[in-house]
Amino acid sequence: MAENPRKLVAERLVIASHNDGKVKEINELLEPYEIVIIGAKKLGLFDPEETGKTYAENAAIKARTAAVGSGLPALADDSGLDVVALGGAPGIYSARWAGSPRDFGRAMVRVEEELRKTGTEDFSARFVCVLCLAWPDGHEEIFEGEVRGRLTFPPRGKKGFGYDPIFIPNGHDMTFGEMEPDAKHAISHRADAFRKLKKACLEQF
Ligand code: IMP
Repeated sequence: MAENPRKLVAERLVIASHNDGKVKEINELLEPYEIVIIGAKKLGLFDPEETGKTYAENAAIKARTAAVGSGLPALADDSGLDVVALGGAPGIYSARWAGSPRDFGRAMVRVEEELRKTGTEDFSARFVCVLCLAWPDGHEEIFEGEVRGRLTFPPRGKKGFGYDPIFIPNGHDMTFGEMEPDAKHAISHRADAFRKLKKACLEQF
């Protein structure tokens, strides 16, 4: 984070995602602030390809495209699962490991198979969420959130999404898939990144 982060003074903020679920979740996280949230799809904005090599690059590509296309500040996130013994994979490819149409059962089997192949006993992993807030003049603020934990197989729990059923956050016995959504949201990588964004850019609201 920059030493003097730019404050968000606009009343309207574009969420640079064409995923209605993500727009809704971000809307809820920003509910206490008097900001009108607009989804990129609603504005008919272009959905760019995620060609970056890092979470931050991908978040910036999405936020920049929406800020320039709308003339308004725009917020994007990029997230995924980093498995230590797999050198950080699936990482930015977390969604892509689920194939098309998305099948996270298959993606979790792949994570297990690749881990077993290495012969490792290190099942540590983390979820990462990087947020990029971009302005139409090119200014950007980036925030990274994480939650550390370990993987377990077979998957457990039906409450979450994606890789939640194989991830046990540190200090807990349940997987994210078994935890109540509020309990997960209190400690998640997304909550961590949003806490940092709010502190830096939204405190004045
Ligand atoms: P994105 O929409 O490009 O950020 O893709 C993120 C991908 O990472 C999702 O499709 C999930 O596979 C995975 N992921 C990110 N956050 C979570 C989470 O909280 N639980 C489970 N999987 C997650």
